[in-house]
Amino acid sequence: MVPNLSLFSLEGLTAVVAGASRGIGYAVATGLARAGASTIGFGRSSDVESEHFSYRQCDVNQGEAVARLFDDIEQRHDGIDVYLHVAGITLPSGTEAQSPEEFARSLETNLTSAYRCCALVGGFMARRGRGSIINVTSIGSLLGFPHNPGYVAAKGGLRMMSKALALDLGPRNVRVNCLVPGYIHTEMTAASYDDPIRNRERTERTMLGRWGEVDDLVGAAIFLSSGASTYVTGSDLIVDGGWSAKGL
Ligand SMILES: NC(=O)c1ccc[n+]([C@@H]2O[C@H](COP(=O)([O-])OP(=O)(O)OC[C@H]3O[C@@H](n4cnc5c(N)ncnc54)[C@H](OP(=O)(O)O)[C@@H]3O)[C@@H](O)[C@H]2O)c1
Repeated sequence: MVPNLSLFSLEGLTAVVAGASRGIGYAVATGLARAGASTIGFGRSSDVESEHFSYRQCDVNQGEAVARLFDDIEQRHDGIDVYLHVAGITLPSGTEAQSPEEFARSLETNLTSAYRCCALVGGFMARRGRGSIINVTSIGSLLGFPHNPGYVAAKGGLRMMSKALALDLGPRNVRVNCLVPGYIHTEMTAASYDDPIRNRERTERTMLGRWGEVDDLVGAAIFLSSGASTYVTGSDLIVDGGWSAKGL
């Protein structure tokens, strides 16, 4: 059978990416745009340049600003078809216990604000009877990691929130899935990437024997955004080079 590659085309769709100023979000916004989607990325940084997608400045923790941004995109583009929530922070505490304030900050950006965005955009999509929401979690949503309980709790919560929303929005033909990166070389992971011991530990623990690059996430993001995944919802698509499947 000849594969129908047009299933993966995003022509005619509008995609919004939260956390598109750099790293995974920038790569994925670029990839969705190159697959044909009219793509709008946003983040707190100003002056982000891209020849592929348009960029707006907005903080996911500022609820009213997010609502104004989404309303504006919805009206200008006649709907939002794909929403990717990539925005996230990590506040590792070293060997100290993480403070309750840092725990709460991690939950606010990584979970509560993600819910706010998904609820807004999910409402728009439900009214139009179609859409795909993709939340970027982490292998920390599946397994315990040290000295960062706020991050692990938030990503685990984001994973389960996505399943709950997939159930609520499924009858309206809105799909909700998680994209689950392993160790990807970005600003967020620069400290462990640049440390020879931690870099080697992570490389050796990965079945494919290397760190991920941001472009390794693009194909999976296109799949979950496109007509190739119309019967996929409530799932976790793990892109971790085999990290989480490894025993010994
Ligand atoms: N790198 C990895 O190995 C890895 C592994 C698993 C999961 N992840 C997840 O993947 C996502 C992207 O990570 P990354 O490695 O690309 O990190 P990064 O380079 O630090 O990028 C983080 C992105 O999130 C945005 N962001 C943070 N707080 C925000 C806020 N309040 N409002 C709007 N945007 C905000 C940042 O933009 P501004 O600073 O401009 O706001 C930036 O675009 C995160 O959710 C992270 O948890 C990463």
